[in-house]
Amino acid sequence: MGTDKETKINIMNNIKIESQILIRRCKLNDLEGVIEVNERELPEDYPYFFYKSILDNFPEAFLVATDKDNKVIGYVMWRVEQIPSMDSLKYVNKGHLVSIAVSEEYRRRGIGTTLLSNSISAVKKHKITELVLEVRVSNYIAIKLYEKFNFKMNSAKKNYYRDGENAYYMVRNADTN
Ligand SMILES: CC(C)(COP(=O)(O)OP(=O)(O)OC[C@H]1O[C@@H](n2cnc3c(N)ncnc32)[C@H](O)[C@@H]1OP(=O)(O)O)[C@@H](O)C(=O)NCCC(=O)NCCS
Repeated sequence: MGTDKETKINIMNNIKIESQILIRRCKLNDLEGVIEVNERELPEDYPYFFYKSILDNFPEAFLVATDKDNKVIGYVMWRVEQIPSMDSLKYVNKGHLVSIAVSEEYRRRGIGTTLLSNSISAVKKHKITELVLEVRVSNYIAIKLYEKFNFKMNSAKKNYYRDGENAYYMVRNADTN
């Protein structure tokens, strides 16, 4: 069981699911499990220090889903970036989705939705004006998930991925529900 600081949700209460799955904040010793899920489920991989720096800097929006044995079966991580404001000389914060993945055998049970909704609430605490992400143009399923959260396609980024695939840049106002 986790601590009060963790986001603890028994998905069974909110979303169709048949087994106990915990969504909580990522801890240092979850990182190996996060990396395992990432390397299995996504072509983009990152060095350990990258995950560690996201965890150090934006821990509240780095969530994991774990199974009954406390094994990581999904994760989501965000970073906060400063961009020049459109209407003043100040900088404003935008939340950038770094990565989200759920182990294949646990998909379609609402885990991705729960990770995203709870991490969005957490990243918004950084006084974010907008939320942004990139997604492979072929990743129909992830695009559907983001559209559920009112992300809209803003533009395409050519050759964004190492293998040359283009990305859609999707954006949402932080205040949108
Ligand atoms: C995208 C991903 C995280 C979704 O996780 P999940 O736990 O299966 O998501 P959910 O069960 O909450 O489903 C969320 C929504 O995604 C869409 N979706 C999920 N699986 C789908 C499928 N097989 N076909 C069509 N839409 C699908 C639906 O809109 C769904 O909402 P609904 O159940 O109300 O219809 C998961 O598919 C994944 O890990 N994919 C590989 C990694 C990846 O592509 N990450 C995104 C990189 S940008």
